[in-house]
Amino acid sequence: MLTAEGITKSFMGIHALSGVSMQVHAGEILGVIGPNGAGKTTLFNVLTGLYAPDAGNIFFEGRDITNLRPYRRVGLGLARTFQNLEIFRDMSVLENVMVGGHVRLSCGFWQSLLVTPGKRAEERLLRSQALELLALLGLADRASAPAVSLSYGDQRRIEIARALASHPAMLFLDEPAAGMNPRETELLAGLIAQLRKDLQLTVVIIEHDMNLIMNVCDRIVVMSEGRVLTAGAPHEIRLDARVLEAYLGEEIL
Ligand SMILES: Nc1ncnc2c1ncn2[C@@H]1O[C@H](COP(=O)(O)OP(=O)(O)OP(=O)(O)O)[C@@H](O)[C@H]1O
Ligand SMILES: [Mg+2]
Repeated sequence: MLTAEGITKSFMGIHALSGVSMQVHAGEILGVIGPNGAGKTTLFNVLTGLYAPDAGNIFFEGRDITNLRPYRRVGLGLARTFQNLEIFRDMSVLENVMVGGHVRLSCGFWQSLLVTPGKRAEERLLRSQALELLALLGLADRASAPAVSLSYGDQRRIEIARALASHPAMLFLDEPAAGMNPRETELLAGLIAQLRKDLQLTVVIIEHDMNLIMNVCDRIVVMSEGRVLTAGAPHEIRLDARVLEAYLGEEIL
């Protein structure tokens, strides 16, 4: 469904990605793991269009998207959450989710400043779809609460709901369990599996929580020092000596 070929990206001499090639298959939950600084987030940033790669190409459903702007990629069905929570602090939970749907709206910017009947109908639709997503994520009863009043774990779920509001085919989650307690993490694992099933999603997930990764992923890509070290099924990765070595000093597997 998505192919990255030879992706290279440097920041002022730091080789964040050096010739990374990987694939995401339709319908799978793919884990991306690796020690701090391995290049996982940079890979997401390149795949979703936030950064242009120095070299390499990205294909989504057969189409070369390497030079597409991020919002155009959202239009094609790519959505993401961020490692550092990106919640609009002055907005309600519902409004935070509706922002994600605005990307799809047919009204242009100037038109959106006028309150036309078409715009009102779209807002109503956005609102009802955002409420449905909140129900799916178990946050319906918090819809009108200020987003900042929710727990950290719940704010992470708001971000997932917002990403889903753009009706993605492929969802990128960058450390969705960071800051969650073990109970919240367990619920998140179930939720991710359920979303894949209910919304026919393909999911790519960066996580340091190995329980979550091993339980929820069909396949795992291991990164180290800007390269793909190996890829395989969870039981293969768990036993791979190179993976243990990359994590040396971090008691993680
Ligand atoms: N915008 C940037 N400017 C400068 N350097 C960057 C930038 N983004 C990433 N880097 C560097 O690129 C390397 C890879 O960083 P990246 O954030 O992709 O790692 P990561 O695998 O996501 O790590 P973590 O598990 O800690 O989130 C690091 O050395 C990082 O400092
Ligand atoms: Mg990261």
